[in-house]
Amino acid sequence: MIRINENYTKLKASYLFADIARRVSTYVAAHPDKSVIRLGIGDVTEPLPPACIAALHAATDEMADRATFKGYGPEQGYTFLREAVARHDYAARGCKIEPDEIFISDGSKCDCGNIQEIFATDIRLAIPDPVYPVYVDTNVMAGRTGMNVDGRYEGVLYLDSTPANGYVPAVPSAPADLIYLCFPNNPTGAVATREQLAAWVAYAKQNRAVILFDSAYESYIRDPAIPHSIYEIEGARDVAIEFRSFSKTAGFTGTRCAYTVVPKTVLAWDGAGQAHPLHALWNRRHTTKFNGVAYPIQKAAAAVFTEAGRSQTRALTDFYLENAALIRQAMTGLGFTCAGGDNAPYIWINVKRDSWEFFDLLLNRAQVVCTPGAGFGKCGEGHVRISAFNSRANVENALERIAAALQ
Ligand SMILES: Cc1ncc(COP(=O)(O)O)c(C=O)c1O
Repeated sequence: MIRINENYTKLKASYLFADIARRVSTYVAAHPDKSVIRLGIGDVTEPLPPACIAALHAATDEMADRATFKGYGPEQGYTFLREAVARHDYAARGCKIEPDEIFISDGSKCDCGNIQEIFATDIRLAIPDPVYPVYVDTNVMAGRTGMNVDGRYEGVLYLDSTPANGYVPAVPSAPADLIYLCFPNNPTGAVATREQLAAWVAYAKQNRAVILFDSAYESYIRDPAIPHSIYEIEGARDVAIEFRSFSKTAGFTGTRCAYTVVPKTVLAWDGAGQAHPLHALWNRRHTTKFNGVAYPIQKAAAAVFTEAGRSQTRALTDFYLENAALIRQAMTGLGFTCAGGDNAPYIWINVKRDSWEFFDLLLNRAQVVCTPGAGFGKCGEGHVRISAFNSRANVENALERIAAALQ
């Protein structure tokens, strides 16, 4: 008799965005004359930069010609893209990352979700709360947690991100083996300082742990004192894996390209105490289960690093950050305490009441969709996330409606 992976039955039944979609479609069905503005899901709205489109067209033409046609490419990504990433995203910031330590993929969601496969099932996890749900759910699926009790999985060391710590958790006193960190953060928009990241690197070294550092939103950092990469911290090459994506940097959410950095110096141990480089394990996993990102997409991603691509992607992130500033200013003006929005495309608003209640209020009175903080974890309660990914007209319109609704 075929049996299921029963860990899946531990997953909390409803998925946040499905819940939101259900409430919005119920509202729209009941009020077909009202227009709803969606500032909920963190998907980009602006088209791909012209430099990426030109590269995509040129690469597509190459695929039409026998002389330049490409079949399977290297699973880890084409050298032209790995070298561009190493040079522009790392060497330019003083980080020593070699092109062959960079694994090109079709998204950070997959990478953040798949990476746990190379670790033992009985390790201790430290995961922030609130959090991008993929980190927790993939570990639940793999059997690294107990049951969900009152919104938290047994066996996980939760790192509370609260108003008291500015939504940046300090290192815990208890030990952990695998630590998930995400800065600039989704959903809180908080960023970690050099000192805060250095404390995490020291903690990982002390505990022989590994940090999984998700910097999907690094291109939104404008404060020059904030590190863009964990590898800007001394010693991080020995204890950290980093995830980056072209999704929010260059509008690739529907185009799909990202990468994971696994330095050859990051080690983990087997049951007999023998050390193993994680680079070899991830290379094995990646080449066994993944067949590479499409050549035209990698060409489009490489165009992000050209002079034109750099200025166009900067203009794109500037545009969303201007939206973010408008949202933060308006919500602060309405008396709310806000985090994020200055080095991140998310504004985390302390609404000091039930987050689904506030969600319903905005939907019913302003026809604006936000994301209830409770969907990101227990510490998300009392907050909502507003995303800056939208047109200027929609953001301005939404803010006017919110102001009118909350008067
Ligand atoms: C924190 C975080 N990591 C990773 C991702 C996934 O990015 P990708 O589009 O590359 O799968 C997202 C997307 O919203 C995210 O918010």
